Amino acid sequence: MGNKPAGGLEGVIAGQTRLSTVGVDGVGLTYLGYSIEDLAAHAEFEEVAFLLLYGHLPTRDELMQFKARLASARSIPPSLKSVLEQLPGSAHPMDVLRTGCSALGVLEPEVDFADQHRAAERLLACMPSLLVYWYHFQTSGRRIEVEVDADSIADHFLHLLHGRPASEQHRRAMHVALILYAEHEFNASTFAARIVASTLSDYHSAITAGIGALRGPLHGGANEAAMELIDQFQDPDSAEGSLLEMLAGKQKIMGFGHRVYKQCDPRSDIIQKWSKQLCEAAGQQRLYSVSERIEQVMRREKRMFPNLDFYSASAFRCLDIPTAMFTPLFVLSRITGWSAHIFEQRGDNRLIRPAAEYIGPAARPWLPVDER
Ligand code: ACO
Repeated sequence: MGNKPAGGLEGVIAGQTRLSTVGVDGVGLTYLGYSIEDLAAHAEFEEVAFLLLYGHLPTRDELMQFKARLASARSIPPSLKSVLEQLPGSAHPMDVLRTGCSALGVLEPEVDFADQHRAAERLLACMPSLLVYWYHFQTSGRRIEVEVDADSIADHFLHLLHGRPASEQHRRAMHVALILYAEHEFNASTFAARIVASTLSDYHSAITAGIGALRGPLHGGANEAAMELIDQFQDPDSAEGSLLEMLAGKQKIMGFGHRVYKQCDPRSDIIQKWSKQLCEAAGQQRLYSVSERIEQVMRREKRMFPNLDFYSASAFRCLDIPTAMFTPLFVLSRITGWSAHIFEQRGDNRLIRPAAEYIGPAARPWLPVDER
């Protein structure tokens, strides 16, 4: 028997990608060569979505046409509205998105692989509609109109959720959050989507697998878990006291640590600045100061840094987004990265099927049922 394989495939290079790199030393993040700092400072989310789906930054005409196609693909088929209305208000919105994606794959299936870009644009455009349609129906019984006048996915989501256009600051914050969540190499949900794609299965099956993998608290679910943690504390001192107890009890603090990054998550610095601005504008200084103290304690006690999910939590709270929608927002963005990986996998496919080291019993004789 050889050495025990790395748990969780840590450090294993499981394939090639040209879509993003977390940098040779586990620092820095680029999407097709463009730094996350440049994209977050200058781009609209739609430019990043186009970059990932089509491999280059759009020209002005390409961007206008892309946004027009997305705007015209926001409707929900009536039979899918009926499905959404059957899903209970107590359901987790991630389950609603998983079911919504799967149902769309039945009602409007990908015809063949030549249809993959249409399927991806359709899903990207209508997932905010599905999510918020279900939310309003289940919380207030209202059947909202999902085709509102909105220039972008960020605007569309905020407008549907709040019933009015968002402020310029909130729109820009949402663009940045969507950009930061769009793509991240071979993370668990992307790898799950690629595995499904490698069997030559359909687009919606692969995305549904991605949503399922993202849901867990060790992955995308951490932004909600971080918010629940922060919400427990009235002030920074009580946060510090409780955090020390949690660490002494060997509890994991959600929104900290990362498999690949060892020094910092470059996305966190960007969202932290937005969190600070949004908290100030919303009069939520307590939220920011509690978050900041948790970060200080984690750095001091564990030498751990916040990942993207930690300051996303306070930023999303200031945008008046319900906590249970934090991970779904990750989905609305990551559809672009998952789709790009599905296309890349299909472009040079070989079935993903690793081997396992057998550690079970040696071969033994069959025993009839009365002799066991
Ligand atoms: N809080 C406290 N201790 C931690 C944390 C944490 N958040 N993360 C890791 N550790 C400790 C572990 O307890 C372990 O300690 P030990 O060696 O004494 O047992 C050690 O650090 C290594 O941790 P692993 O879980 O083995 O590291 P791994 O690389 O497998 O996991 C992960 C990475 C899952 C992100 C982990 O750091 C974690 O669970 N963080 C909290 C969840 C989270 O924030 N997930 C979001 C990821 S980013 C994203 O999806 C955008």
